This record gives sequence, structure tokens and C-alpha cells, in this order.
Amino acid sequence: MALLTISQIGNPVLRAIASPVADPTAPEIARLAADMIDTMLDAPGVGLAAPQVGESLRMIVYRVPAARSGGVEIPPTVLINPVIEALTDETESGLEGCLSVPALRGLVPRVTRIRVSGVGLDGAPISRIAEGFHARVVQHECDHLDGHLYLDRVTDTRLLATLEESHHLTDALTRAGDPS
Ligand code: NI
Repeated sequence: MALLTISQIGNPVLRAIASPVADPTAPEIARLAADMIDTMLDAPGVGLAAPQVGESLRMIVYRVPAARSGGVEIPPTVLINPVIEALTDETESGLEGCLSVPALRGLVPRVTRIRVSGVGLDGAPISRIAEGFHARVVQHECDHLDGHLYLDRVTDTRLLATLEESHHLTDALTRAGDPS
């Protein structure tokens, strides 16, 4: 198990457009994915994008705890060269945090239903429909690949709070977001 250093806001790697992974089956990509999952679980967080560990590559890991998705847990998942297609115009505001933006939470509108396509570590195509929290995590992580932080999507800075104060933002929502 190797824990990687998580880049923090201000580091230019978080603002760069990441490059496609040329060979998703390369051993170094498998190693990076395993280390990213270890780092995500240790943080703990629900997602991590390669630029957050200083690798400007289009690759994300994420997980969805059962408590966040009506009891259906999604175990740690690796998506390489992911592409998102919105399947609805409907958006929903939810609390987000980010391992690269310590201590803060913000309310972010996200599309509620997407298709995410990509490639797995075995080189096989992956395509899945994601809804709700699952869709939110995938959108947050894929934003990192284009140099966007969730802060860019907060529509009003009054919708930002520290973790300790974030319950004030979420009286109408059910629980605080885990960082990703
Ligand atoms: Ni993040």
C-alpha cells in the first residue's frame, strides 16, 4: 500500500487539462490506480482524480457508500479516459467537499442523471448510468480532469462553509458531503 501526496488548491496541476491515458493496461497505470484507491480510502474520501496526486492524466477512482445511495454500495472503481453525457436537464444542489480544498464544503448544482463511459484497467470499455450521489461524485471527479474545482461551480460564495458550519447549508439536505 502506498499513500500518495494530495495536491492542494493553488497547485497548478489542479488547473491543467489532463492528458488521455495512452495505454490503460500499462502496469504503471494499474499501480497508480491501486495507490489512488489506497489514498482515497485513507483520507478518507469518496473520490480522487489523478491530477490530485500530481499525475495530469484522465483517470479517476471513486466509491459510493451504501448510506449515500439507498443501500446500494459501489466499491472502489477505476475509470480511465472517462466521458460524461448528461441524460437530463434536471439539476440538484448538494454539499460537496474536495480533498484538495481542506475543511470547506459548498452547495453545488449537478445534473441528476448521466451516462459515464470510459475504459477499465483491463482495457475493456465501461458504460454505466449514474444517478443522484453517484452522478455527483463522477461529475466532481471528471471536473478535475479539465482543471475545474467544485468551488468554480458554487453559484454564490454564501453557499460555502467550513465543515463545522456546513450544517447551516444543509438544513434542507440530509447530510454533509464527504470530500472527493
Ligand atoms: Ni475533488
